[in-house]
Amino acid sequence: AEQLKKRLFEMHTLAGRFFYEALQEEEGAEARAYLQKRQMDPRMARKFGIGYSPDSYDALFRHLQEKGFKVSEILKTGLVLENKDGKGYHDRFRGRLMFPIFDVQGRVVGFGGRILAKGEPKYLNSPETILFSKSRNLYGLNFAKQTRKRELILVEGYMDMLSIYQAGFHNVVASLGTAFNQEHARTLKRFADDVILLYDSDEAGTNAALRAIPVLVKNGFHVKVTQVPDGKDPDEFIKAKGAAEFSKLLVNAVHYISFEIACIQRKYNLKNPEHRVRFATEAAEILAKLDSEIERNVYLGEVSRVTGVEEEAIRSEIRKLVQKED
Ligand code: UTP
Ligand code: MN
Ligand code: MN
Ligand code: MN
Ligand code: MN
Repeated sequence: AEQLKKRLFEMHTLAGRFFYEALQEEEGAEARAYLQKRQMDPRMARKFGIGYSPDSYDALFRHLQEKGFKVSEILKTGLVLENKDGKGYHDRFRGRLMFPIFDVQGRVVGFGGRILAKGEPKYLNSPETILFSKSRNLYGLNFAKQTRKRELILVEGYMDMLSIYQAGFHNVVASLGTAFNQEHARTLKRFADDVILLYDSDEAGTNAALRAIPVLVKNGFHVKVTQVPDGKDPDEFIKAKGAAEFSKLLVNAVHYISFEIACIQRKYNLKNPEHRVRFATEAAEILAKLDSEIERNVYLGEVSRVTGVEEEAIRSEIRKLVQKED
C-alpha cells in the first residue's frame, strides 16, 4: 500500500509538471490569456503550479504511460478514466485551467480544473482517491501554515484564496465549495485557533457560512465573520477595490453571534411588533447556545436595542431555553 501511495504521488507530480508545461506552450495561449484577464501575477501562477490540461483526448494518459506507469496504476489517480464502452481511456481534465491541490506537506494530491469559457461544470475536481479526500483537504493550507499565524481566513473558492494571497494576506485557505465539516476542522486545528470566515455573500455562501459556524465553534475555534458587499466574492472584491479596502473588511469582521443575529434579523420587519417578538425569540435561541454569561449579556443588549424588547424579557426566555437543554 505504501508502495502504491508512492507511485500515486509520483504520477501527481508528473501530471502537475505536464499541465504546468502545457500552459507555457502554444496550446496554453488561451489559458494564459484567461489568467491575465483574472489579473493573476505570473509569480503566483508559478508558486501555485497553475497549469493547463491540453484539449486532447488522452494526452496525460499517454504521457504517464511513456513514463512507465501501468494502466491499473494510472486509473487509481482519478486523472484518467476508462471509456464507457470498455475500450481505451481518456483524461478527466481537458482544456481546463489546472489548480494543483496540495496536502499540508506540499505534495500534489489532486487537481481542480476550471473551464475557460462558460459551461458546466465550472470546476471539475479530482475524485476521492487514496491520496485525496475532499472533506479533509483545505486548499492553500500548505502555504498558509508557513505564516505561523494562528488566525486563518477561510474562503470558498480557488480564486478567492489566490487573490487574497496575492494581495499580501498569506494566512488564507479555501474549503473548495464543499461543506466545511468535522474533518476540515480537525485539519485546521493543527495550525489555527482563530478563523475569519469569509464566504461568498450570495445566498449560497451565506447559508454555507451559517452551517460552518457551529462546526468551527464546536471544535474550539474563535470565529469571526465578514462578507464582501453586494453579493460578490472576495476575489471580485479585491480586483475591484484593492488590498487596502480588503484589509478593512478583515478589521470589521464581527463575532459569529452578531453575524447569526444579523442574518435572522433580515427575515423580519422590525416596524411590525409581531415580527419584533419573533425576532427576539429567535435571537434568544441563538444566545442560549453561548456558554459565557458575559458574551450573552453583550449580545442581549444589542438585541434588546434593535427590537425594543426589554433585556429582562429576553433574558428570561434564554433562561427557559438553557434549562430545557440541561
Ligand atoms: P463558486 O461558484 O463561488 O466559484 O464556487 P468561484 O470560486 O467564485 O469561481 P470563479 O471565480 O468563477 O472562477 C466556489 C468553489 O466551489 C467549488 C470550487 O472549489 C469553487 O472555487 N466548485 C464550484 C466546484 O467544485 N465545482 C463547480 O462547478 C463550482
Ligand atoms: Mn510526453
Ligand atoms: Mn458561489
Ligand atoms: Mn469567483
Ligand atoms: Mn465565488
